[in-house]
Amino acid sequence: MQFTPTPATLQTWTGQVLAIGLYAEDPTGLIPQLEERLGLSIGPWLEQRRFRSKPGEVAALQVLKDGLDSLVLVGLGSQDKPDLESLRTAAASAAKAGLGQGTKLGLLFPWCDHTSDAIQAASEAVRLSCFKDQRFRGEAEPTNGFEQVDILGPLPDKSETALAAVAPICAGVELARELVAAPPNSLTPGRMAEIAATMAEEHQLELTVLERSDCAARGMGAYLAVSQGSDLDPKFIHLTYRGEGPIQRRLVLVGKGLTFDSGGYNLKVGAAQIHMMKYDMGGSAAVLGAMRSIAELKPRGVEVHVVVAACENMVNGSAVHPGDIVTASNGTTIEINNTDAEGRLTLADALVYASKLNPDAIVDLATLTGACVIALGEEVAGLWSPDDSLAESLCASAADAGEGLWRMPLQTSYRDGLKSQYADLKNTGPRPGGSITAALFLKEFVNAEIPWAHLDIAGTVWSDKGRGMNPAGATGYGVRTLVNWVKSHSTPA
Ligand code: BES
Ligand code: MN
Ligand code: ZN
Repeated sequence: MQFTPTPATLQTWTGQVLAIGLYAEDPTGLIPQLEERLGLSIGPWLEQRRFRSKPGEVAALQVLKDGLDSLVLVGLGSQDKPDLESLRTAAASAAKAGLGQGTKLGLLFPWCDHTSDAIQAASEAVRLSCFKDQRFRGEAEPTNGFEQVDILGPLPDKSETALAAVAPICAGVELARELVAAPPNSLTPGRMAEIAATMAEEHQLELTVLERSDCAARGMGAYLAVSQGSDLDPKFIHLTYRGEGPIQRRLVLVGKGLTFDSGGYNLKVGAAQIHMMKYDMGGSAAVLGAMRSIAELKPRGVEVHVVVAACENMVNGSAVHPGDIVTASNGTTIEINNTDAEGRLTLADALVYASKLNPDAIVDLATLTGACVIALGEEVAGLWSPDDSLAESLCASAADAGEGLWRMPLQTSYRDGLKSQYADLKNTGPRPGGSITAALFLKEFVNAEIPWAHLDIAGTVWSDKGRGMNPAGATGYGVRTLVNWVKSHSTPA
């Protein structure tokens, strides 16, 4: 999908689908201009349908004349209100309404009421809302998607730069969606390492993959304990991007990479949705997707590390027993009182490894707890961090990306819930506040001098019904937040 600014106007643009964003009062008189061009009276038709230009409200009609096939009118609400998120919703609604009606889309929004960020946000919404994953169909349905999207002016400054970021960012989000949606017999730890290798080759990234024996030599007993019940080998993946110019910031992104989570001997039963646990690698999908975008956007002056301790949580004769005590790579002993709290075990060793890189900040993303889904639902992820400025910068990056993120308390008194009679820690505490004790567990494995934040994305990786620019299924949550955050650390050329 190619996005290009065009000098064409509402009067002159030709193509199959013209989508127009309308404020409630139509202050610039777009409807009369359209009526004049088409020689049709649209006002009464809109009135009859009670079209009120509410945010995201759509009215579509076939015109089949004057070089236009169809017209999509989309509401933007009142003129002083539309923020980036309403523009995204409107652009997504317009694109979905026009989908299948042709390959060329024209997008006319009141761009000049905004900065070029609005063009980028709306364009991303168009591409991401039209995304369809057909990799696992026997025969792909013929797509009749948009190939060319013309952005009708007038346009604010730096529009070309904003549009140039759309493809790299969307490619990262789409990679994350494909990784999350892939079934566990396709996306195995080995396959994930191969994908990292392809990315490294295509974008000149540095790659290290630690095999089981390498991890054992590093004392990663918590991670390897999770993996030991699986017939598939674990792969500990570490990718590095180095931006041009003197490196000012070194950042590590850690992603939970459970390609399947059966629960282990604490098997997922009943309402636990075991068949959905292919998406338990959503954290790793987000960090790999973000790396894909970053490698193409090439932010200067930053070094970005992606760390994924990939494995499966399965059951066999060598699987962890509930009650086993294992030792993580920082020497901490852990009583595994619940084999289904496996993500934090893999992250423990990943966070120790990340700390040893001695970066300026560590951010981990994980589909860590069902409790977070109960607390925040599927539109908002939870953030835990002892560092106020890191927490604020991540929340700001998420807000700019239109990804829901809410800071939660790292209630240190709850750490008592993780006390074990015989080991240094147990891996699960009481059920109430389960996402908080999970975050407190992770904190034990981060060097306290390094700013660290944990994002629990268990609710946001997947959308059953789809919403706005997210089609039903994998959302690719986190990629755009991480890209914004990394860019906020880059140095200008
Ligand atoms: N991967 C799950 C968390 C999860 C649950 C993600 C639902 C998405 C939707 C995680 O490994 C897990 O099983 N967590 C347990 C922890 C409990 C045993 C303390 C949970 O949340 O039930
Ligand atoms: Mn689990
Ligand atoms: Zn899990």
